[in-house]
Formats: sequence, structure tokens, C-alpha cells
Amino acid sequence: MVRILVLHGPNLNLLGKRETERYGLTSLQEIDKQLMSLAKAQGVALETRQSNSEGTLVDHIQDAAGKFDAIVINPAAYTHTSIAIRDAILSVDIPTVEVHLSNIQGREDFRRSSFIADIAVGQITGFGSQSYLLGLLGAIGHVQGGENPCSLRTKAEG
Ligand code: DQA
Repeated sequence: MVRILVLHGPNLNLLGKRETERYGLTSLQEIDKQLMSLAKAQGVALETRQSNSEGTLVDHIQDAAGKFDAIVINPAAYTHTSIAIRDAILSVDIPTVEVHLSNIQGREDFRRSSFIADIAVGQITGFGSQSYLLGLLGAIGHVQGGENPCSLRTKAEG
């Protein structure tokens, strides 16, 4: 069975209360519930974790080696700052999908750059809580080698 780890970065524990006009009213607990239902429907195993701490996120990524087939991560503010999270993803060599609720390309300049984007399988940004569900489907498709845009591109290039 395909195993997927979802990681939520700092301040995402406040979803539903934090800047709701930007990030929506859906709580992290509800997002995790939706992810669990989708995982069940897709026949994959899912675990989710949230941390406000960069080091703890690095620990979770390191611990994922050999236990998970893909990671879906919203690194939140660490997206724009964290070489440590980038290096951890590179170290474990687990396909990783980057997700964001807001469209980071349409926001402040400092949010347009990501330390994760170029090492990720893909980035999903701007679809609110649905970004996670789309990210999960992308990760499953990537692991199963199905006809998602990533595998099509690989086939076309390869
Ligand atoms: C975010 C975008 C980040 O720039 C921000 O720091 C967040 C949330 C998003 O999901 O839109 O905390 O990752």
C-alpha cells in the first residue's frame, strides 16, 4: 500500500482563525479529515503532522525515510527561508509535493521564491484547502506512475 506523509508548517495550526480572508475558514483538523477520507477512497495510507518548529519538520522528514513513499508539504513561511528543510528532502530522496493555500506567486515578492519548488515533484498553490487534496492526488499519481502531468512529462522527455 502506498504511504503518504502530509506535513504542515508553522501557524497552520491556526487555520480557520488566522487571516481567514486569505486562508479560509477551514480548520487544520478539518483539512486532515478531508485528506484521510480521500486517502481511504484512494486506498492509500496517510499520516499527517504539524509543527511550528523548523527542526521538528526536519526530524519528521528524516524519520520518513523507508516509511513513506511520498511527502506532501506546506512548509508555510519556511518555504521562503529554509535551506534545512530543502536539504532534509534531498537527503531522504522521497518524492515531495509542495502545496500552499494562497497563490504565493500573486503575493509579496518574498513569498514568490521557494527553497522547495525546484526539488519538488510539483507545486500546487492558490486553491485554498483544496490545494492539499490536489497535492495528495498528485503525490499518489506520481508514486503509482499513472498518467498525471508529471509522469506524462517524464515520458515525453524520456
Ligand atoms: C502559505 C504561504 C506562506 O507564504 C505563508 O507564510 C503561510 C501559508 C500558504 O499556504 O498559502 O504561512 O504557505
